[in-house]
Amino acid sequence: MVYKEETLDPENWDKFSDLGHQMLEDMIQHLKTVRDQTITLPDEKIITEIYAPLTEEGEGEEKVYQIFKQSILPHLSAVIKPTFWGFVVGTGSPYGMLADMLASGSNCPDEDWLASTYCHRQVINWIKELLDYPKEAGGVLVYGGTEANFTGLAVARNKKAEIDMKTKGMQSVPRKMTLYVSEEGHHCLERSIELIGLGNESLRWIPTDDMYRIRVDKLREAIKKDREEGCYPFCIIGCAGTVNSGAFDDFNSLAKLASKEGMWFHVDAAFGGWVKLSNTHRHLANGMEKADSLAIDLHKWMYMPYGIGCTLIRDRVAHFSTFVYGHEAEYLKSGFDTFKDMLDWPDMLSLPLSRYFVSLKAYMLLRAYGKGKYCRLIQQNLDQISYLEKLVKAEECLEITAPVTSNILCFRYNPSGFDESQLEELNKAIRGELWKVHFGVVSDTTVKGRYTLRACCTNHRTKYEDFDWLVNTVMKKGLELTKQL
Ligand SMILES: Cc1ncc(COP(=O)(O)O)c(C=O)c1O
Repeated sequence: MVYKEETLDPENWDKFSDLGHQMLEDMIQHLKTVRDQTITLPDEKIITEIYAPLTEEGEGEEKVYQIFKQSILPHLSAVIKPTFWGFVVGTGSPYGMLADMLASGSNCPDEDWLASTYCHRQVINWIKELLDYPKEAGGVLVYGGTEANFTGLAVARNKKAEIDMKTKGMQSVPRKMTLYVSEEGHHCLERSIELIGLGNESLRWIPTDDMYRIRVDKLREAIKKDREEGCYPFCIIGCAGTVNSGAFDDFNSLAKLASKEGMWFHVDAAFGGWVKLSNTHRHLANGMEKADSLAIDLHKWMYMPYGIGCTLIRDRVAHFSTFVYGHEAEYLKSGFDTFKDMLDWPDMLSLPLSRYFVSLKAYMLLRAYGKGKYCRLIQQNLDQISYLEKLVKAEECLEITAPVTSNILCFRYNPSGFDESQLEELNKAIRGELWKVHFGVVSDTTVKGRYTLRACCTNHRTKYEDFDWLVNTVMKKGLELTKQL
């Protein structure tokens, strides 16, 4: 009997090459024409098509690609549109897309000791340099801001614990460990704290001032009260760019307080940390470099394709000690047993063992475009939000609802004579109208108890005229909907 060996490599490489070129050409066209693309949510018909039964023989590469093109691509996220300012999203970039293809093609499972090591190391060096973080510090690339915060907080917990956390675990802590963040902090922090076993009630949400910054007097009081009640306050979390309104805490004061109290100082700089690259707003991040750990995304305000984030940590040994994998895993030791080398092995510094070659896109993009391009783009987004602020201020029926600190503008349609619940109903309806253009043009939130629309600009495709369109549309829809109320 002749045994036919199987492989996933193509039988006909020329035919495969044609398909690959077609896919590439289609995606380039998609990005080239993104402004005019219609991107809608999937309807019942599309969902049924996606829920196809798994066939025995497979449907073939070409057919499945056609399904992607017709049924999936037109119903993916609109974040790549120039008029997407909802939430905090990343727009990706064409060169980033190509770099990701190279990473998948080379299928390198780690960034430890091959050329990929040096790419990872250099990207961490560049990030430290861009953020003025100490040269001697270490860091690791992860897959987003949530994981970056998780990584920093896990190290904080292990380093500050009053027991050997790695061996004894949370069951053995003598006192309840508590952490502090402003009431504007991101809820991914809560998730991390739950996952590292602290329980979300250990996170104290501290009131903010009228610039939405943590109130240091209230923070001091909370720490004092917890100590008096037998708790162990061990970590202060600063916010560099809050998700609601883009506010920045006073990091110098937080660093000073953390040092006086013997606490860890962590900063969630997921998107806002990049104000460091601007001329006009870099001062907002003053003192951020004093953090013991710092979490930042590259897939939001550095416009890299999802998912890439980074944790920087001053104490490299504490970082390594938290994640170092399997002292007993003999099969991992062959040939690489020097502690010094392992100190910047990403798989000893974060959760996964096998890793995607995530540093490649950052390496190629930063090297291709240089610091100057990113500085100009960040500045452009900040200037665009100032422009939007002027447009909003010029309209009597529009109201700015939170202080404009960085790249987020909270605003709403507010003709006189409407109470809070009517304003909420009206502005929700305006947001609904905008989402008929595409999902996420703006998003909404509640700031200090008031419902508001919210535009966050981390978009390298936005033009000033897009904000003219936004204001005109909100005014037009606001007027129409007011008549119906
Ligand atoms: C301030 C802040 N921190 C953390 C996160 C979570 O980051 P990611 O979505 O990359 O996990 C976000 C997301 O918007 C954020 O705005």
